[in-house]
Amino acid sequence: MSTPRLTVVVTRSMEVLRDLAIVGNITGGEPGMEPTSGIADHYTSGDLLERLEEHLRDDGVDPVRPTLEELAPYDQFHARGLEATEDMARHLPVSGTDRILDIGSGLGGPARYMARRFGCRVTGIDLTAEFCEVARLLTARLGFEERVTVEQGDALAMPFEDGAFDGAYSMNVSMNIRPKRAFYREIHRVLKPGAWLCLSEVAQGPGGDPDYPVAWAASAASSFLSTPEATRADLEAEGFRIEHLRDTSSEAHEFAARSRAVVEAGGKPLHRAVILVLGEKAGVAMANSGRAMRDRRVLPIEVLSRRQS
Ligand SMILES: C[S@@+](CC[C@H](N)C(=O)[O-])C[C@H]1O[C@@H](n2cnc3c(N)ncnc32)[C@H](O)[C@@H]1O
Repeated sequence: MSTPRLTVVVTRSMEVLRDLAIVGNITGGEPGMEPTSGIADHYTSGDLLERLEEHLRDDGVDPVRPTLEELAPYDQFHARGLEATEDMARHLPVSGTDRILDIGSGLGGPARYMARRFGCRVTGIDLTAEFCEVARLLTARLGFEERVTVEQGDALAMPFEDGAFDGAYSMNVSMNIRPKRAFYREIHRVLKPGAWLCLSEVAQGPGGDPDYPVAWAASAASSFLSTPEATRADLEAEGFRIEHLRDTSSEAHEFAARSRAVVEAGGKPLHRAVILVLGEKAGVAMANSGRAMRDRRVLPIEVLSRRQS
């Protein structure tokens, strides 16, 4: 049974999706110089767990014993959700003995997916304390405590030793980080020589700036989009060799069309993480994100690279 408040939020968001023909979370110096509190504030509600449980019950799912697939519409907080994570995982050379890093791990959906798929250990780090708390709880509920751990911290100064990880990935996070080179330098530091780094990001496109708020930022003050070309140049300058850099816009448009068809038939959007995290603010953020995507103001990209020794 839907609760009235949840019904209002979901219904409003679905109306916006239908009107604007968009669906999906499209998500875009030196360390320590950026105030990060505005970013964590954007993602923090104080009642995330309660609202997640409400959404799950509305889906007919036991919130205490959800499966990875049942959580996926909510805990994969990036464009195309679980599908993008699966696409990324296909390219990753991970073995069961590897220790890998998820930078900006959010609610932990991608980390749990990687741990299940590869049997590896995954360490997540995220700025937003509430996300870390919920991520740990969900990890325990799904029985992944042995293989997935989450630290609260800033990606620009990570509490990990040099060369600690066999690989790292980051999904829809760099849009919140202004000093890109410092970000890539810090990742380089914690990777072993030859280790891989995969980024699934929202890049600045040729169509101009997005309107705000968007899914990843309340205003332009916490949104730092970089073009695909600048992303490549910054990674190379910090010692990464690019193996591929691809624009995944066509997959995002196809996903949006599929999700729209589900909504038009009376179902829920395929991806509901933005609705969960932003609550009543989700409708306008999703509309702006979707329009930015259609106008090529933003481009979803996937970059696979290697740390050169
Ligand atoms: C759009 S969410 C993506 C979450 C997760 N990667 C996923 O795909 O499900 C962006 C995440 O980046 C985190 N973040 C932003 N800036 C960060 C920073 N400087 N250090 C660590 N995490 C950061 C936010 O707290 C948020 O969880």
